[in-house]
Amino acid sequence: MANNKKKHLTIFGLLVIALTCLSQPAFAFEDDEGCLLCHKYPKMGRITEDGTRRSYYVMPHVFGETVHRNVPCTGCHNYIKQLPHRPVKEGVTCNTECHSIKNPATGKNFSHQPIYDKYEQSSHFRPKLAEGHDQDKPYCVTCHRNPIYNPQETEAPKHITNRCVVCHEDKNFVETWYKHTSRRIKDIKRSSRDIVALCSSCHGDKRLIERHLKAAKAEGRELGRKYPKAAESYKNSFHGKVTGYGFKEAANCLDCHADASNYYLSVHNLKPSRDPASPVSDGNRLNTCKRCHTYADENYAALDPHPTSGKEDNPFSYYANLIYGWVGDVVFLALIALAAFETVGRRRDGVGWRLWHGSSWWRPSKRGRDRVE
Ligand code: HEC
Ligand code: HEC
Ligand code: HEC
Ligand code: HEC
Ligand code: HEC
Ligand code: HEC
Ligand code: HEC
Repeated sequence: MANNKKKHLTIFGLLVIALTCLSQPAFAFEDDEGCLLCHKYPKMGRITEDGTRRSYYVMPHVFGETVHRNVPCTGCHNYIKQLPHRPVKEGVTCNTECHSIKNPATGKNFSHQPIYDKYEQSSHFRPKLAEGHDQDKPYCVTCHRNPIYNPQETEAPKHITNRCVVCHEDKNFVETWYKHTSRRIKDIKRSSRDIVALCSSCHGDKRLIERHLKAAKAEGRELGRKYPKAAESYKNSFHGKVTGYGFKEAANCLDCHADASNYYLSVHNLKPSRDPASPVSDGNRLNTCKRCHTYADENYAALDPHPTSGKEDNPFSYYANLIYGWVGDVVFLALIALAAFETVGRRRDGVGWRLWHGSSWWRPSKRGRDRVE
């Protein structure tokens, strides 16, 4: 009996080893932990209790092209300590310390903790497993979907890498590090339109906004004056309109709401305008506009980047719109009426319609009122 079990185990073990060896060369990264032994199958997944389909399929060739391709699976999924593994609760947190990759600058284990520390102080902070209205806020993976390496950096220019190889000898090393830095030096990042779309996915979602305003009120908190219409009003602004047409220089959400002098940390530390640290607080707003509008003064900075036309938000613009609306309609109607009077009068005068050579006054007037000599 016991012998039989052992035999089975040995066969199973051999199978696993064989599978591991067979599967190894196909991946663009090392699968030391054998996770893909199971997770490379497309059908792998399940339907959760609430009926949503979850796929547990990891496409090796795709993962191998992402920014995280050098991180072992258990570097992030560090709660998996044994195989087959137990059900997952919290899942991956983005401030997890990586035990297999060191930060070459500090010599310490790498982690996103410095970014997380900023995020913790921001308006957007929520724990990974959020409850109640905290769920409306973005966690790291809401904004970052483990993107595939930017296509612009797939080829490292030979005339540069040739020079590095002189000392470093290893072509792979040189290409990897060239790509790592060149992407940041070239400042490859989201376009203005991408940023507006990202922020608007929540700040333009009426149901989310209402639900969240209610929850904040229940906690006795006031959100910004423009909170309810931030995305919608931006679209109506000059910046929003030209950005919508694809113009790249006009201010997007983060040009104003993130501190340009430390942009990459600051996008993770967004604060409301009532916080003096915000680049659009009363004290900092002029400088923020001045970054692009060199000659801006206090009056210019007071122009509303979130123009709303509601009666309470902006009574001047509300009544101006109303009056101009009426004036426009009246002028339009008066023009039509004038044309109608003119036509009726001319018909009565015997004017006929003619396609060629115009349509008026080509017959003598029935009433002897010929104006053409
Ligand atoms: C023996 C096969 C097998 C191996 C090897 C394996 N897994 Fe899984 N994994 C599964 C199965 C089966 C499920 C689905 C479990 C379920 O439905 O509760 C799963 C689910 C998961 C989930 C999703 C769990 C959830 O509920 O959200 C993650 C994440 C995961 N595996 C990561 C890994 C990682 C990382 C490794 C390598 C260290 C690994 N797996 C190795 C079989 C395996
Ligand atoms: C940079 C960190 C990171 C690495 C490296 C990584 N994952 Fe994940 N993985 C995540 C995150 C984040 C999720 C989303 C679910 C969550 O938040 O826990 C996820 C989801 C999954 C899921 C689906 C689980 C679900 O709940 O839908 C599976 C399966 C999985 N990973 C397997 C793997 C395997 C296999 C590898 C190695 C080839 C790997 N992961 C490498 C971060 C990572
Ligand atoms: C509201 C959206 C949002 C959230 C939430 C968010 N980020 Fe970011 N992150 C950005 C933007 C925008 C950038 C700037 C780069 C760009 O535009 O692509 C950025 C840049 C980064 C970068 C620099 C990437 C590079 O190549 O230079 C890292 C790393 C990063 N974020 C990690 C995190 C981590 C970790 C968290 C969670 C603590 C997080 N982010 C939460 C939007 C977000
Ligand atoms: C003249 C020789 C020389 C040239 C050319 C050169 N390097 Fe280096 N590089 C070095 C030396 C020596 C070190 C390590 C010592 C130090 O300065 O700290 C180094 C360190 C590095 C490191 C840090 C490695 C680590 O793990 O700490 C990287 C990355 C790097 N070089 C990339 C490049 C790239 C990319 C190029 C081409 C654009 C390049 N190097 C050109 C000599 C050179
Ligand atoms: C996943 C949804 C989501 C995304 C994406 C998102 N936000 Fe938010 N944001 C919120 C929620 C919810 C709050 C309210 C937080 C609170 O309760 O204090 C908020 C708060 C804010 C505040 C402070 C509002 C106040 O009055 O206190 C600003 C400013 C802000 N977000 C700007 C942005 C910008 C800029 C972006 C795009 C980079 C963005 N948000 C992306 C959900 C989101
Ligand atoms: C030209 C600069 C500028 C741009 C671009 C901009 N904002 Fe604002 N935003 C402001 C200013 C200034 C305020 C404060 C307005 C007030 O209350 O008078 C504000 C207020 C807000 C508020 C209310 C909370 C607060 O801080 O008072 C949110 C939320 C917000 N903006 C989100 C966005 C989003 C999302 C975008 C992009 C779709 C965006 N903003 C684009 C300057 C800007
Ligand atoms: C990232 C750069 C940037 C920032 C920051 C910025 N703007 Fe602009 N803005 C532009 C560009 C580009 C235009 C297009 C027309 C132009 O060049 O004047 C524009 C146009 C405008 C216009 C339309 C009419 C005009 O004067 O040309 C107004 C009003 C305006 N911005 C107000 C502001 C205010 C107020 C702030 C500060 C809260 C601000 N902007 C911050 C880039 C910016």
